[in-house]
Amino acid sequence: MNILAIETSCDETSAAIYGDDGLLANEIASQLIHQKYGGVVPELASRAHVRNIMPIIDTALTKASLPKDAISAIAVTYGPGLVGSILVGLNFAKALALAWNKPLIGINHIEGHLFSNFVNENFPEEPFVTLIVSGGHTLLVRVKAPGQYQIMGTTRDDAAGEAFDKVAKMLNLGYPGGPIIDKISQMADASYLRLTRPKMDNKFDFSFSGLKTAVLYYIKKLAPEELEKHRADIAASFQSTAVNFLIDRSFSLLDEIGLKILSVVGGVACNSLLRKRLMERAIKENIRVMVPPPLLCTDNAAMIARAGYFKYQNGKFSPLSISPEPSLAL
Ligand code: KG4
Ligand code: ZN
Repeated sequence: MNILAIETSCDETSAAIYGDDGLLANEIASQLIHQKYGGVVPELASRAHVRNIMPIIDTALTKASLPKDAISAIAVTYGPGLVGSILVGLNFAKALALAWNKPLIGINHIEGHLFSNFVNENFPEEPFVTLIVSGGHTLLVRVKAPGQYQIMGTTRDDAAGEAFDKVAKMLNLGYPGGPIIDKISQMADASYLRLTRPKMDNKFDFSFSGLKTAVLYYIKKLAPEELEKHRADIAASFQSTAVNFLIDRSFSLLDEIGLKILSVVGGVACNSLLRKRLMERAIKENIRVMVPPPLLCTDNAAMIARAGYFKYQNGKFSPLSISPEPSLAL
């Protein structure tokens, strides 16, 4: 059984094939056009998806060396995300399903991220905690089994990735800010600026807007030459505080509910400091930490195909009338 998956919810056009033999192809076209605007421009994203979708699916099929008859179903992201972007992938998937007479499987993009850790690894037999940290979401989820989720914590304001992007923008570092902050922080002094974490009622919730505003006020007071000199130190201080915040919350949840596996997914899971500190904490506290390879952390269709594989096995198909759901929750 092989699932062809399509992902177009934001600014990556991706097609992948995952089946009984594992991942056979995962093609991703990233839209660099948004960099000069400092963020994703929805109309430009939709147009780029229209241009990219056909070649990307073609390449995925060629790389997997599979004829269309070997495809069992078409999985596609139907939300959350940018409606114009989702529509391109969803309509293409519907057309393929009709033309090839294959079932359609709508996938929630957040659930896709959750499955990204199980493209190369087995889905754990025991319950575990997933931290989903992307540009749009920050969630702590207790996973009992595939498809059985309980949200234990979320962000009250900005998503973790969004906060990285906004702080990078304040520091004039470019877009997307996460990878740039990660890179320039490596040689910088993370103790330069002391940032305090917000106090929250729910001890598993997050908030990043206070951190972001603290950075903004600090920058505003700095003389231009000081800002120039300490740009990387400020970025590193923010990164270190944000990373510790994510890790501490996740490990307290594991401790409180007595689970031993932590799966960390989403674009921010690419962050090298987060990965390093997670591994240190894992050894110290005897927890199994799972993080996907970077290519499966940011948006990709492999994770959609993997989620589709699970849905196929459970007979969870979608009607051709399925519509985009820009605000779909997990
Ligand atoms: O999962 P993703 O590709 O898209 C969404 O579903 O949102 O996540 C993108 C986010 C962006 O905010 C980006 O800045 C962040 O992930 N990101 C990083 C790193 N690489 C990507 N944040 C911190 N460090 C990184 N190395
Ligand atoms: Zn995503």
